[in-house]
Amino acid sequence: MIAITGASGHLGKATLEFLLNKTSPESIVAIVRDPQKITEFSDKGVVVRQGDYDDQASYVSNLVDVDTLLLISSSALGDERVRQHSNVINAAKEAGVKHIFYTSAPNPSLDALFSPAIDHFRTEKLLIDSGLTYTIFRNNLYLDILPMVLGDAAQSGKLHYPAGAGKVSFVLRNDIAEALANALTSEGHDNKVYDIGAATAWSFGDIVASLSHNGKSVDYIDIPNDAYATELAKHLPAELATMLAGMAEGIKENDFNMSSPTLEQLLGRAPVSLDTYLKSVA
Ligand SMILES: NC(=O)c1ccc[n+]([C@@H]2O[C@H](COP(=O)([O-])OP(=O)(O)OC[C@H]3O[C@@H](n4cnc5c(N)ncnc54)[C@H](OP(=O)(O)O)[C@@H]3O)[C@@H](O)[C@H]2O)c1
Repeated sequence: MIAITGASGHLGKATLEFLLNKTSPESIVAIVRDPQKITEFSDKGVVVRQGDYDDQASYVSNLVDVDTLLLISSSALGDERVRQHSNVINAAKEAGVKHIFYTSAPNPSLDALFSPAIDHFRTEKLLIDSGLTYTIFRNNLYLDILPMVLGDAAQSGKLHYPAGAGKVSFVLRNDIAEALANALTSEGHDNKVYDIGAATAWSFGDIVASLSHNGKSVDYIDIPNDAYATELAKHLPAELATMLAGMAEGIKENDFNMSSPTLEQLLGRAPVSLDTYLKSVA
């Protein structure tokens, strides 16, 4: 059996869709907090079980017949998130799971500017130290979050963002899901760490150029990070504001500039590019 946690989220649902093209629904276990959120998959015969990352015991019983587990990282942040991931890894070990796939981020480290990369560093260590076979997908920033960063730039003609000339190997969430489904159902991924992103990287100058090809001309205005952080803090919870300001700082320092061929190899085709994505959401 292959189990997927976070199966009610965007990445989890997309991975389930791709997995259903590769294996029978009865061999897939989708673990969610609320089974009502994925009735479209239980209707197709996928085994749906209820589990919360905060409850290690429920996870052990959910995983007893599972060989391979995809642990989709939690949407919590900091110590809470690492504790949740630790619960799932411990439960998997206790239940006899052989192989864990984990969704991480580029350049995880204890002094990362992008705070989630600190959580991912700590989780990767827990996973490797567990002695279980692992495959780590260091997923780059989703193309799907770009509209949130761009705001009304396409209409106003101005994008204010503190990323300098830093580049990002943006990746479509659906491409990650397809690559995960391919890897979960094939051999050769034992104890591998994959940088998952486009084989090209784009700066915010490239992004506004692409937006300009698609319509009105847009200027990129590189602003100081502290001004951005102050503005975010007026509108968002402190932890989220700090995370987003740190993400921009990390982009400026090229922490998301990976340009690896791995995703293309896992997909057997070129990933969706920035231009194609921006045209599709224009
Ligand atoms: N690379 C990027 O740009 C990027 C962007 C955003 C997030 N991420 C990371 O990638 C992960 C997957 O992305 P996504 O787009 O699928 O995020 P998402 O749509 O927010 O899904 C998050 C999933 O985590 C589940 N979850 C959260 N807390 C849980 C808990 N205590 N116990 C069990 N399940 C829990 C959610 O369950 P419920 O449905 O019950 O809430 C949901 O299924 C995110 O969780 C985050 O760690 C990456």
